Amino acid sequence: MVNIGKGAIDKSSAAYEQAPLVYRRDGANLYRGDFLETSKDWPAPTVIIADGPYGVAGYPGDPVSHKGLADWYLPHIARWSERALPETTLWFWNTEIGWATVHPVLARRGWEYRSCHVWDKGMGHIAGNANSKTLRRFPVVTEVCVQYVRRVTICSGGQEMGLKQWVRHEWERSGLTFSEANLACGVKNAATRKYLTKCHLWYFPPPEAFELLAQYANRYGHPEGKPYFSLNGVFPATAEAWAKMRAKFHCGVGITNVWREPPVRGEERIKDAYKSVHMNQKPLRLLELAIKASSDPGDVIWEPFGGLCSAAIAALNTGRKCYSAEILEDYYRAARDRLADYDAA
Ligand SMILES: C[S@@+](CC[C@H](N)C(=O)[O-])C[C@H]1O[C@@H](n2cnc3c(N)ncnc32)[C@H](O)[C@@H]1O
Repeated sequence: MVNIGKGAIDKSSAAYEQAPLVYRRDGANLYRGDFLETSKDWPAPTVIIADGPYGVAGYPGDPVSHKGLADWYLPHIARWSERALPETTLWFWNTEIGWATVHPVLARRGWEYRSCHVWDKGMGHIAGNANSKTLRRFPVVTEVCVQYVRRVTICSGGQEMGLKQWVRHEWERSGLTFSEANLACGVKNAATRKYLTKCHLWYFPPPEAFELLAQYANRYGHPEGKPYFSLNGVFPATAEAWAKMRAKFHCGVGITNVWREPPVRGEERIKDAYKSVHMNQKPLRLLELAIKASSDPGDVIWEPFGGLCSAAIAALNTGRKCYSAEILEDYYRAARDRLADYDAA
């Protein structure tokens, strides 16, 4: 018998053996088992919400220290990297030291740091629980949720280059003057100043401006170098294809990198009688914030470490598809029941 807070589950029963490996509902797909085993056929993600081990012994299986986290995450990060698209955003949840420990692995595997969001749970998180006479540090009421995007490169003439270098390289290859780029885009000097600069002031050309550059170069550039601005070597990339070359981001008004939100309470907290089923249940408001900022309705969200599958619920609420895995049978069952009973917003 195993008990995670809900009534004990009899693992020797026939019904237990027959529990299906996948539960599906309205675009949410919850897999029973290890993410590395279950995710092989998942469609590529626009968003990955990774809320896995913290190294604080927070749930059965969570290591007791952050020290081994880099090695633990390595195969998982390898899988995210293999399957990610240029438009994929990763939201990596952890403690501050847990994230610091894993960051070098993420960076080595092509994940580019964008921003660190601090979940401030407020004083309510420690109320009545912190003895200042014995503590040797201030009470911790935060976790971090760190946003990463892919480091995108394109191969041209056998040379691998970043997007900034590639846009300039393609224009130079066409033999056109830089000022003609302004003409192509119908702007005074924005194309040369923003899209063709080599410096840190470079802007990703908006898709419509990119298409104008590509059309102009393919029309007036050296005939022998065509196609210019091609991602497949056959025809120039469209505005739509170019838009997919970077992570999506919709910046909501009034949102900063400090997320003030109490720990999950009330109706949202999944409980068995009076006891929380999972100590790490994340607030839907924060997951919806991340999902809405980095994807559009219909996009695919991955939740490699499901727990109670709060990301799957947030995906249901926001019209996205979600693929989740939970390795512990009892949490899997609790998450499946949560999904089955949930009235989507
Ligand atoms: C921090 S909790 C996730 C909590 C979740 N975000 C929520 O709101 O309920 C991490 C979960 O990942 C699960 N887990 C750990 N390793 C896993 C793996 N390799 N594959 C699938 N699930 C895993 C753990 O059993 C645990 O329930």
